Amino acid sequence: MAMQTHAGDPGAFRDFDLMRVPSPCFVVDEARLEANLRILADIQTRSGATVLCALKAFSMWSLAPLVSRYLSGVCASGLWEARLGREHYGGIVETYSAGYKLDEMAEIIALSDHIIFNTPAAKTRFLPMIKDSGKQVHVGLRFNPGLPLGDDAKYDPAALGSRLGTPLEQIDADALEGVDGLHMHTLCEQDLEPLLAIWDHIAPQIRALAPHLKWINFGGGHHITRADYDREGLIAFLQKVRDETGLHCYLEPGEAVALDCGILVGEVLDVVENDGPNAILDISATCHMPDVIEAPYRPALLDEQGDIQVRLGGPSCLAGDVIGRYAFNSTPQIGTRVAFLDQAHYSMVKTTTFNGVRLPALALWNSNTDALRIVREFTYQDFKGRLS
Ligand SMILES: Cc1ncc(COP(=O)(O)O)c(C=O)c1O
Repeated sequence: MAMQTHAGDPGAFRDFDLMRVPSPCFVVDEARLEANLRILADIQTRSGATVLCALKAFSMWSLAPLVSRYLSGVCASGLWEARLGREHYGGIVETYSAGYKLDEMAEIIALSDHIIFNTPAAKTRFLPMIKDSGKQVHVGLRFNPGLPLGDDAKYDPAALGSRLGTPLEQIDADALEGVDGLHMHTLCEQDLEPLLAIWDHIAPQIRALAPHLKWINFGGGHHITRADYDREGLIAFLQKVRDETGLHCYLEPGEAVALDCGILVGEVLDVVENDGPNAILDISATCHMPDVIEAPYRPALLDEQGDIQVRLGGPSCLAGDVIGRYAFNSTPQIGTRVAFLDQAHYSMVKTTTFNGVRLPALALWNSNTDALRIVREFTYQDFKGRLS
């Protein structure tokens, strides 16, 4: 069964003329992004916690100055995101990877303010390099709270057998040698209650370890910018953790930064009749929205209405390159434009050029001023440059 997206309404995209951009194209609304950033900055100010932007979800760096105006820095998944963070974003660069390569570590140390390890063994292996660098780096250890509360094990790092983080019961004073803070990440598009439940589950151990530590990082997966998220509850929770443990709190949301900020515009290239109409788009699930197949989920379509069910699929050779069935008033014609909602996060960062399918252009739109800029268009050279 396909997951339903938690995306809200189309917002200002309801009135966006899809013919204003090349096709395919990601269009990101800076005004909506700024509204999300204001919410996150408010959480930061009122709770005293530090909020970082998870680049893995959203790293459209032409918006780095805007993101940096509101948030305290970025969380990176490894060397290249750390470098992007240092080059374009201000503030803290925090790097966590489940596995570090020795030949990348010197550069990661030079780029990062926080380095978080997945196991005590990895920390022990790399701590001498950090010390020898002479650089002040916060060292963190990712623990696994072992309480799976996600809808799907594939998106639940707390599931049994997970490689992500060291089970909390294995973390003792020895494991914390040279460690400044603990990190966890187990949520995915979740409300406050699962975070509170996890805290109840781990609080006795964290309180016992707290005297050895300076901070705790609650990772991402908090759907803070969704209208119905309990933000006051989150602020109270973060204050409580600080007051009870003396630890400074960090959050590193990705999806919440760019939630409902962008659409992916495409157009119909052809229609094949086979058990109903199948429209072939210049948007491909496998190349441009891989989570549609991986999760799987059905992205919402802008202005979906009508009695005719049309399958929308990509131009690739993959039979399963189908985005879903959508309602139309009439069978779409060649050239008809469509747009999928909530595509700013985890789509742009995941695109591929399988089959040599063109990568979507990147556009910035400001729904307050109506200013539109195409910030990047991709060419044959981008496809060729990834191969040799
Ligand atoms: C370690 C870590 N931090 C932060 C995030 C961001 O999570 P989200 O985009 O769901 O907020 C992720 C996502 O996988 C992650 O693995």
